[in-house]
Amino acid sequence: MKKRSLTLLAVAGLLFSFHGMATEPLADRHGGFGIECVDCHQTDTPTKRAKSKTCKGCHGDKVDVPLFQAEERSVDFHESPHGSVRCTKCHLAHQQPVMYCNECHAFEKPVP
Ligand code: HEC
Ligand code: HEC
Ligand code: HEC
Ligand code: HEC
Repeated sequence: MKKRSLTLLAVAGLLFSFHGMATEPLADRHGGFGIECVDCHQTDTPTKRAKSKTCKGCHGDKVDVPLFQAEERSVDFHESPHGSVRCTKCHLAHQQPVMYCNECHAFEKPVP
């Protein structure tokens, strides 16, 4: 696990330098909020990804953030017009987050 963490840190470090974003991975930030592995993974010894259902258990089914204006429309990242999207499509926990919608759009909005 230690070796893996170090590798992840190295990868994250690389990404920071590309994006100039000096944020810690989301899982580590949760650690800072007093939230542990088990709270997201529902087990003390995680082997698989955490489920969005667990995120929703704390954050609710619908996160309210200001609408984002782009492409002459108001975009709600937490309510895609294309159907439901897993939280961790954008909010990766151990890697830099990604704006998943930009597989097709060009929304200049960083994901926390
Ligand atoms: C046990 C409760 C809990 C779980 C489970 C949880 N969170 Fe959080 N999360 C928090 C708390 C508390 C904060 C800090 C206060 C806040 O911003 O709401 C937080 C903050 C965040 C933030 C803002 C981070 C920042 O730096 O400001 C994001 C994004 C987030 N959580 C997404 C997620 C996602 C995605 C998941 C599932 C993979 C998840 N959370 C699981 C409790 C939880
Ligand atoms: C399409 C990408 C995307 C998906 C999917 C997504 N989010 Fe977000 N999320 C964002 C963006 C972008 C922001 C920043 C919004 C802002 O700052 O205006 C954000 C902000 C947040 C925040 C911080 C809110 C605050 O008040 O600062 C939390 C918590 C969060 N998301 C949780 C979730 C949870 C839980 C899910 C799944 C139910 C989810 N998100 C799904 C893109 C996404
Ligand atoms: C905020 C919720 C959250 C916290 C806290 C968290 N994880 Fe995760 N974890 C995830 C999510 C979501 C994934 C899916 C991959 C990703 O998003 O990076 C994951 C993936 C994993 C995986 C599987 C990786 C893979 O490739 O399948 C392991 C192992 C893991 N986490 C271990 C841990 C350990 C150990 C801790 C505590 C030090 C921890 N996680 C804390 C949300 C969390
Ligand atoms: C696989 C490609 C693809 C992805 C991924 C995608 N979109 Fe779209 N989206 C489209 C296409 C194609 C249209 C229709 C053409 C247009 O209006 O630009 C569209 C239209 C929209 C519209 C306008 C809908 C309307 O009724 O006017 C919004 C808002 C939108 N997308 C938001 C999102 C958000 C938010 C995400 C991420 C959660 C997302 N899209 C992810 C392809 C995609």
